[in-house]
Amino acid sequence: MTVHFIGAGPGAADLLTLRGRDLIAASPVCLYAGSLVPKALLDHCPPGARIINTAPLTLDEIVDEIAQAHAAGQDVARLHSGDLSIWSAMGEQLRRLRALDIPFDVTPGVPAFAAAAATLEAELTLPGIAQSVVLTRTSGRASAMPPAETLAAFAATGATLAIHLSIHRLDAVVAELTPYYGAACPVAIVWRASWPNERIVRATLSDVVEAAAGGPERTALILVGPVLGTETFGESSLYAPGYDRRFRPQSATSRFAGNEP
Ligand SMILES: C[S@@+](CC[C@H](N)C(=O)[O-])C[C@H]1O[C@@H](n2cnc3c(N)ncnc32)[C@H](O)[C@@H]1O
Repeated sequence: MTVHFIGAGPGAADLLTLRGRDLIAASPVCLYAGSLVPKALLDHCPPGARIINTAPLTLDEIVDEIAQAHAAGQDVARLHSGDLSIWSAMGEQLRRLRALDIPFDVTPGVPAFAAAAATLEAELTLPGIAQSVVLTRTSGRASAMPPAETLAAFAATGATLAIHLSIHRLDAVVAELTPYYGAACPVAIVWRASWPNERIVRATLSDVVEAAAGGPERTALILVGPVLGTETFGESSLYAPGYDRRFRPQSATSRFAGNEP
């Protein structure tokens, strides 16, 4: 028996890995985080599967469900939205399962920030503009931010910011970032990236609050940084004709010559 933690992706039912799909299909029990996991993914469950929405459950109740499946020798598919490495509450579940000696494995998923970038047709790391993406959030009722992890501290680097769980605090986000990026810095908001009712607003720090007014207060990513508004960036050396590399040695005397895979 194994508990399969599976990243269920950002919303579109076909943004699920083949491995995730096959594990769901092979598991007689499925626990899913119903607030964001699309119901269409449950169509992959085998006939007669026990399917439980964990949104209204406590951690103790979730672990009880898993322990019951373990006692019955039944595999469990445990679905969380996006990828499991960020804001999935997987860590606390794995700690309980380790203590109970219940086996598990982890299958990654498409994170929401990647889906939002795809919607925007944007590369978030452009040569000479930004080479880092900060996946962050602001404080919420369920999780306070560690004191050093302020938006201002991240903004001071000039990196591209992907701000989660914060659309309801857009005005505060803008106020904190403007001194660092400037009022003209591009901002994009993507609500429900990859869902049929996906929505996009493109603006700048100076007018994004107005542009986003009346939008939903949940399930949105706020992307901020100069990469979102420029065509003026260098090309990477990787594909430059004269760039000597393992996969394209430039001469017989290249240190890569004869090493091509
Ligand atoms: C609890 S976090 C889950 C993040 C998820 N584990 C991931 O890998 O993206 C939920 C937040 O992620 C963002 N989010 C999740 N799905 C989204 C989507 N389809 N479009 C835009 N933002 C999304 C929103 O900021 C939302 O408030």
